[in-house]
Amino acid sequence: MPRKKMNVRNAHQQKKPMEKKSAKAVDRLLGMKDIVPSEYRYFSAIRNKAASLAELYSFNAIKTPVIENSDLYRKSMRHNNDKELYSVDCEKGENSILRPELTQGILRAYIENNFVELPQPVRLYSIGPVFRREKLQSGRYRESTQFNLEVIGEDKPMAEALLIAAAYNFLLDLQANFQIQINSIGKADCRKDYSTKLNSFYKERGRRSKLCNNCKKDLGKNMMALLDCKEEGCQQVLSEAPQIADFLSEESREHFAKVLEYLDELNIPYNFNPYLVRGLSYYNDTVFEIWPVNEDGAANNKQALAGGGRYDNLVESLGGRPTPSVGIAFGLERVVAKVKEKFELPDFKQEVVFLAQLGDQAKIKSLILFEELRRAGYNVRQSFSTDSLKNQMEEAARLRSKVSLILGKKEVMDETIMLRDMESGVQETVAFKKIKDRLEKKVNRKEGVIYG
Ligand code: HAM
Repeated sequence: MPRKKMNVRNAHQQKKPMEKKSAKAVDRLLGMKDIVPSEYRYFSAIRNKAASLAELYSFNAIKTPVIENSDLYRKSMRHNNDKELYSVDCEKGENSILRPELTQGILRAYIENNFVELPQPVRLYSIGPVFRREKLQSGRYRESTQFNLEVIGEDKPMAEALLIAAAYNFLLDLQANFQIQINSIGKADCRKDYSTKLNSFYKERGRRSKLCNNCKKDLGKNMMALLDCKEEGCQQVLSEAPQIADFLSEESREHFAKVLEYLDELNIPYNFNPYLVRGLSYYNDTVFEIWPVNEDGAANNKQALAGGGRYDNLVESLGGRPTPSVGIAFGLERVVAKVKEKFELPDFKQEVVFLAQLGDQAKIKSLILFEELRRAGYNVRQSFSTDSLKNQMEEAARLRSKVSLILGKKEVMDETIMLRDMESGVQETVAFKKIKDRLEKKVNRKEGVIYG
């Protein structure tokens, strides 16, 4: 029986019946993800949106290598992250890894390219893959795509407020349901006293026995990591734990109060989360995460859409000058999943403008016009290899063009062009100079970003 031909989009949406795999078929690696065409539409629209929003907030794009020297990351470790790094076989003596974050690579580039000489702060954004050999879990991939915004060289609390505003507006435009979690973890000194207090808290009243094995191991050594654990038992114990807010220095307290005050003024809703610490060791003072909110209104702390914070000592620890900074990274796969849940990406059907020509002069003029219209975002088509007007108009009809522009000898001489509405058949003569104004009213055009 002949099989029904499927278009590409339908082909991968068809999950059943599964075809039996040949023994020779090679599977995708664990933790890796394919972004198939139906999802790629979202991915690419959201990526474009991210880039245009970053530019709007005065961030400049930067691309850094996927492979970096492992020292860059080992100097600014997440707890236990050595196991998470993918090492790469490079030149002899080089300790290379696949980057697990974008932040350190961006800062290395900032130092190496002497961006410190530029007016500060330097605002950089980057979009690209990161690799972490993580424990497998839903929504957690070993290769994921981050969208980072870094404000380098700014110590004022306004930096956090503006960064959070950009992140907030990004997700708001995408109509995602989310909640901003924010806290201050103060400076290293504040955390030292807090850790001591936490340690005694966890030792009281058999609390230790309720902790997961990892937390038991961290107990007494890495107390902040206990706050970051998402296991239910650990979260329960945590709900009664002392809060770092009571250990903040006057300076850290004032800084954080200012950040919150600015967010209030900007009408940005947030949830003060006294136990938010972030799993990365380089932060000080303000830390934040953006959690997706489920249909039932509950915020999901296991699959943050984004996370970030202030990292005033990181540039210096990587060999630069003391450079207070703040940044955030979104996980684009998670943002796509969230947006897809409820938002149907409009299938933007771009109307076709067909450009027909007759005679050599008209052909040259059409070629120039073709490029102009294409750059202006029109879906312009032509058939320059055909001289017959009849054939060209048949092609215009086959392409279901909305309008055809016809340029013949007479039009070239008169500096006009004929515009035919392909539906009604009505023709009008338009001054060549006015063609874009006229098209603007008749045909839609793509302005780069589907979401605007
Ligand atoms: P992070 O919290 O490790 O922060 O990652 C940022 C975001 O990337 C997360 O909120 C999540 O959406 C996404 N993400 C992380 N790991 C995975 C994974 N395995 N699978 C899917 N998505 C994931 C950072 O990386 C910091 N560099 C953020 C930052 C920028 N801090 C300052 N500047």
